[in-house]
Parts: sequence; C-alpha cells; structure tokens
Amino acid sequence: MDIEEVQKEWEDLRVDFKRLETINKDYATKLEEVGDLQGACMKELNHQRYRMSLIANALKSVDKKSIEKDERLLTLEKEIMKRKAMLHEIEATLPKQNSLYLKIILGNVNVSILNKNDKFKYKDEYEKFKLILSAIAFVLAVLNLLIDFRPLQLIMIFLLVWYYCTLTIRESILKVNGSRIKGWWRLHHFISTAVAGIILVWPQNEPWNEFRHTFMWFIAYISVVQYMQFRYQSGVLYRLKALGARHNMDITIEGFHSWMWRGLSYLLPFLFGGYMFQLYIAYTLYQISYHPEATWQVPVLSMSFLLIGIGNTATTLMLIPQKLSEQDQKWRQNKGEAKTE
Ligand code: COA
Repeated sequence: MDIEEVQKEWEDLRVDFKRLETINKDYATKLEEVGDLQGACMKELNHQRYRMSLIANALKSVDKKSIEKDERLLTLEKEIMKRKAMLHEIEATLPKQNSLYLKIILGNVNVSILNKNDKFKYKDEYEKFKLILSAIAFVLAVLNLLIDFRPLQLIMIFLLVWYYCTLTIRESILKVNGSRIKGWWRLHHFISTAVAGIILVWPQNEPWNEFRHTFMWFIAYISVVQYMQFRYQSGVLYRLKALGARHNMDITIEGFHSWMWRGLSYLLPFLFGGYMFQLYIAYTLYQISYHPEATWQVPVLSMSFLLIGIGNTATTLMLIPQKLSEQDQKWRQNKGEAKTE
C-alpha cells in the first residue's frame, strides 16, 4: 500500500465512523428514554399499590358488615389477588435498590437483572457454582481424612470461608432479583462463614486433633448432600422455566408437583441425616470443651452447630405444610381459571 491508498482507506473509515456516531447517539437517547420510562412505571406501580390498599381496606369493612358473602365481593377479592400477581410481574422488569449488605460490599452498583432469561441463567450459574465448590470440598475433605498435613487443612478451611462468604453475596443478588429464598438459609450461610472463620483460627492442639476427623467426615457428607440438592434444585428450575414458557395447563402443574414430591422424599432423609450430624457435632464439641487445652473456639462452635442444626431442622420441617398449602392454592387457582375460560 502506498500513502495515497492509506489516505483513501482512512477517508473510507471516516464515513463508517460517522455511521457509528449516529447509532451511538440513537442508543444514548434510547437509554435516557428507558430511564424515564422506568421512573414512570415505578410511579404508576406505587399508585396502583396505594389505591389497591385503600380498596382492600374498604372491602374488609364491607365484609365485616355483611352477614353473607356477596358474589360481587368474592369476585373483587379474586381480581385483587390477580392484580397483585400482575404487579409483581411488572415489578420484576424494573430495577431495584440494593439491600444494605450489598450496598456495603458493592457500593451503589446496579445488580438488577431485568430479563427473565438472564435471571434464569444467573440462578443456574449459582447452583453450578455451589456444585463445583462442593466437589472440590469433597476431594479436600477425603484427602484430609487420609493425610495429616496442616497446610491442606488450612486450604480446605479457607476455601469454606470464601465459599460461604461468596454465597451470601450471590444470594443477596438473587433476593434483589425476586428470589423467594427464606431468610434462614441466608442467615445459615452468614453463620457458616463465621463458623469456618473460627475453625481457621483454632490453634493446632489436642482438642483440634480430637475433632478434626469428625469435621472432615461432615464436610464430605454435606458435599454429597449438596450434589443431591443440586439435582433437585436444577430440576425444579428447568421444570418451572418450561411451565412458564408453555403457559401451562393444570396437567403440567400436577406433573410438576408429583415430580417435586418424589424429589423431596428422596432428598429429605439425607438432609435430616445432615441435621443429626450437626447436632452430634454440637454435642461432641460440648464434651471437648471440658478438655484442659480447649480454647474459646470450642464452646462457640458447639453453640453455633447447635443453632444451625435446630434452625435447619425447623425450617425444613415447616417446608412440608407450606408446600402442601401452596399446591392446594395453585390447584384451586387453576380450577378457577379453567372455569372462566
Ligand atoms: N439455599 C439457597 N436457596 C434455597 C435454599 C437453600 N438451602 N432452599 C431454597 N432455596 C431457594 C429456592 O431455589 C427458591 O428460589 P427461587 O425463588 O429463586 O426459585 C426459593 O428459595 C424458594 O424455595 P422453596 O420452594 O422454599 O424450596 P425448594 O423446593 O426450592 O427447596 C429444599 C426445598 C428442602 C430442597 C431446600 O430448601 C434445601 O435444599 N434445604 C436444605 C439446605 C440445607 O439444609 N443445607 C445444609 C445441608 S446439611
């Protein structure tokens, strides 16, 4: 190429650059428009919620006064329920404020995922992240059972601190994006971060040597249970996605519920096995706390495992009646919809 040809190429590129500038200007205007539309949507959403709360209150007082349930009252109640669900769907497409925890860790960066497909992908990635880390923890726990090598123990314990800490951040992002994850599971992961941190600073003394094997067996066990949980949770995720995409009929919903109960009845015994293991660890640590060399870590960990064991058992026990009533509600809703169609 001689200089003239290079100059000509440059002139050509200038035309392309003008095109890029026009597109970018268009994009920036649209972004601004999106921001304005989001603001307007939020305002309308709040307006709907405010007026609906007034109507719901008025309906309650009408209901108290009337002796028999009026047909119009029942229809209005049903419509309010439906509207609430629709507002929830609309809200999922709008950006949300970060929780305090996220604000402290990430600052005011926006973590809202506005697209259903991207939400699904993020959740799927979260489940896969848990699976991969559990597989690594399993290998490390087995190695630690076979070899007594302090650096290997520290690597595993440090990995646990990092893993649980990361989980709390990912779960807070999921929560901002509409996940119905229960407060206990999030708190459980906060407590687990602290537990792993305390184990990390536990000095290498006789009480640690007494406890070490039980702890490694526990990590190996929960890693296997985590694999089972992964199979169940990703099954739920893909089935719910398919139901949403097909805009289901009651047969598919019933199919989903029967699959869910099969999955749960296979998983629950292993989960309760894990909770018994946690209570057993609390008891073991309580006994070790009487050892003359026992440091403060032992009683604190004993209390923490007791708390985790009780909290997990109670939350999982409460899940069964909750799932039954949800299923009943869905079934009624579907029947109602089928009638009106
Ligand atoms: N960790 C993270 N997220 C959880 C969770 C957990 N332990 N349990 C439930 N969730 C999430 C679900 O994925 C779902 O999310 P979504 O709203 O984004 O779709 C939401 O919380 C509501 O779930 P829910 O319907 O209450 O339960 P589920 O059917 O999805 O799962 C269990 C039920 C019992 C399988 C599940 O709660 C679980 O695995 N619990 C055991 C955890 C445990 O004990 N770990 C320690 C092992 S020793």
